[in-house]
Amino acid sequence: MTGPTTVFIARRVFGDIVDRLRGHFDVRTHEGESPLAQAELIAALQGCAGVFVTGSEKIDAVLLDACPQLKAVCTLAVGYNNIDVAACTARGVLVTNAPGVLTETTADFGFALMMAAARRISEGERFLREGRWKHWGVDMFAGGDVHGATLGVLGMGRIGQAIAKRGHGGFDMKVAYHNRSHLAPEVEASLGATWMTLPDLLRTVDHLVIVTPYSAETHHLVGAEQLRLMKPTATLTNIARGGVVDDAALAAALSAGTIAAAGLDVFEGEPAVNPALLALRNVVLTPHIASASLPTRRAMANLAVDNLLAAFGVGPDAGRPPTALNPEVLA
Ligand code: 8YV
Repeated sequence: MTGPTTVFIARRVFGDIVDRLRGHFDVRTHEGESPLAQAELIAALQGCAGVFVTGSEKIDAVLLDACPQLKAVCTLAVGYNNIDVAACTARGVLVTNAPGVLTETTADFGFALMMAAARRISEGERFLREGRWKHWGVDMFAGGDVHGATLGVLGMGRIGQAIAKRGHGGFDMKVAYHNRSHLAPEVEASLGATWMTLPDLLRTVDHLVIVTPYSAETHHLVGAEQLRLMKPTATLTNIARGGVVDDAALAAALSAGTIAAAGLDVFEGEPAVNPALLALRNVVLTPHIASASLPTRRAMANLAVDNLLAAFGVGPDAGRPPTALNPEVLA
């Protein structure tokens, strides 16, 4: 791919990441902490051939048509539901994402959030900080066990498998999963994992962790009807995307005791959070930080830069962006 070499970095990133690009391109940046509105992004992208984005910037047909010089969109996220890949492909725009580098960090966090929900860690901490701890009680903040329980993984990709590995290998959990495709038998065996239909998974598991990508097919995959199938002692953890779970239905289920607790890192309409969730004691809420270890965020940003360089024929991967989603546009 050839062309002008002005690139835009749509969010504040690490200084050395910007320097890597400055070595090869004319680099423009948006240093703000909040994402640009679409009209601002379109204005900033005029004359740019490449853009470094996160999960927050919406790249759709409207933007692409308004930015005809754009040739590559490189996100530091693994999820790319904010990018209309088909619209990019139709216009010959390369899209890359950042799989792999965040798998273990994100799995660590998913497991931690699941444990926090099951063992009522946030709830106990809030109680202590509020000065309400006056005496010990035999069932004080008694939650569910994680070890030996049944882990349910909804979406058995890289991160789902890394969570299953933790449950099976470290916590003696039985592992059940639901995914469009079945894992190879040897992978299932190594994770001790059994495929189930979604209703069976919901009925069976003690702790459900959701890691499936967001799409029209997975919108509200878990809503009121699905929550009703779960055990009253079960927990639900969502580290995938807001919108896979119907947050209003989840809040109602948590409030009614349909399930015991939840851990949420992602929300419908984030950074707004459904007020019904904020009012509940039995939900652990975190601000979309599952991949947020410093080494991993650096690796994600570096992979986006590797892709951007390669898209414009620079560096060791010149012409072969390592994690292209639509490599056919390069042909
Ligand atoms: C990112 C994520 O931090 O990679 C993803 O898909 O959800 C997170 O790891 C976030 O999307 C960056 O905007």
